[in-house]
Amino acid sequence: MDKILVLDFGGQYSQLIARRVREQHIYAQIVAYNRIDIDEILAREYKGIIFTGGPNSVYEEGAPSFDKKILDIGIPILGICYGAQLLTQLAKGDVSKAQNREYGKIVFHHEGSVLFEDVPENSVCWMSHSDYISRLPDTFVNTAHSENCPSVAFEDPARRLYGVQFHPEVNHTEYGRQILSNFLFKVCEAKSDWLMDDFIERSVAEFRKRLSGEKVLLALSGGVDSSVTAMLLNKAIGHDLVCVFVDHGLLRKGEADYIEKTFRERFDLNVIRVNASDRFLEKLKEVKEPEQKRKIIGNEFIQVFEEEAGKLGQIGYLAQGTIYPDVIESGKGDSAVIKSHHNVGGLPKDISFREIVEPLRDLFKDEVREVGVRLGLPEDLVYRQPFPGPGLAVRIIGEITEEKIRILQDADAIFREEMKRAETVRSDQFFAVLTDLHAVGVMGDQRTYGNVLALRAVSTDDFMTAEWSRLPYDLLETVSNRITNEVKGISRVVYDITSKPPGTIEWE
Ligand code: XMP
Repeated sequence: MDKILVLDFGGQYSQLIARRVREQHIYAQIVAYNRIDIDEILAREYKGIIFTGGPNSVYEEGAPSFDKKILDIGIPILGICYGAQLLTQLAKGDVSKAQNREYGKIVFHHEGSVLFEDVPENSVCWMSHSDYISRLPDTFVNTAHSENCPSVAFEDPARRLYGVQFHPEVNHTEYGRQILSNFLFKVCEAKSDWLMDDFIERSVAEFRKRLSGEKVLLALSGGVDSSVTAMLLNKAIGHDLVCVFVDHGLLRKGEADYIEKTFRERFDLNVIRVNASDRFLEKLKEVKEPEQKRKIIGNEFIQVFEEEAGKLGQIGYLAQGTIYPDVIESGKGDSAVIKSHHNVGGLPKDISFREIVEPLRDLFKDEVREVGVRLGLPEDLVYRQPFPGPGLAVRIIGEITEEKIRILQDADAIFREEMKRAETVRSDQFFAVLTDLHAVGVMGDQRTYGNVLALRAVSTDDFMTAEWSRLPYDLLETVSNRITNEVKGISRVVYDITSKPPGTIEWE
């Protein structure tokens, strides 16, 4: 399988670069610049290297750099932003501070290059830099410029070194995908052989062999990652995979039954459902502070899980739904650090298993979803919105009671139903929040005094920042009418118009 190395210099788009490469069905690995050397790069036989952006200036003392011999090992390199400046510096050109920071959409003009095949002479790119290349190395030729930037792109075709000052990986760069694809296919001559069907086949064969005769335990939450992990391992080892589904009583309406039914009945997985809602409620009694709620739920979850594991006797393997961004974020691509990172799924480090099995640790979320679809998981599970581990506990402000859970589940179900009905309305995550406020209302001739319920809906690409969704007033009206009419205990519905930042998506 052909591989591309994304050499990370601390850029905010490093993962996006790797995803863009994978979109072309070429396997990309992100490794921090200080976690790999030339010998290792050669040993791994990469077809190409991409130097990412980064927040530093290449001329600063101690700025991230790399052995300049990398320019001469015969592997093509594409430098992006900081990466392009570093290429320049390593090849003995000059990088200087620009008078003005260049930020945003800029029109650039290219003068022809394999990198710009099928890209119009003038097009828009995304810039974000305060340094610029003031003198190119002798062996480099300039291939693009903009009004304020003399060197937007350059190359040394003999050594197959290419640099772009802009970010081809972000959508704002009109022909970014084309430019990356030119580098990958025309310069690196990489093959598109990273395919999810092959991944499934390979993984199933590998785990069948590795886990033969063993039992494996998995905490199944019904979230995308644990669900796809379950399906994949079930295909490999069938009922030797034991899925423990802890129902903490804080899931959305009907969800616990749906998860159990889907996996046990439809896909014949070995699922043990633990109904632990009383235990969780007891522990959460009178607790109001959000962080404390999270801690209690996390700890109780581990306890329940360990108790169940204990009942099953000695099980050597624990499976987890760790995915590639978890791996990168926990170790910045360093495999030594990654191996000790076993508690991504919220389980304790010292849990007594011989080995951890992480079938999805090489996959980005969109790849996990594709694997899920190919394994036959229903779309509503695969394209599920994120749901916090502590569940509705962080959507009930203040103390949690059985009654409040019921109210929130009912109201949330109505909101979801109406959103589903309004097919054309787009929102990436939406849910109801039960506030701890009360308000006066009137119903018929009766004065009511009930809870205030908030509706939250956001539009986002990455859940790190989000805009509140501009839901149609008519839809909000229908939801509000239905909730106040149908859910006993709610007298008022409000809509949250806070974006993130400054708000977070969840209320607690
Ligand atoms: P915030 O509230 O921080 O949420 O803006 C960002 C995204 O993360 C989800 N979220 C969680 N997911 N465990 C999870 O698995 C959690 O404890 C948790 N808390 C928040 C949230 O729903 C949103 O999509």
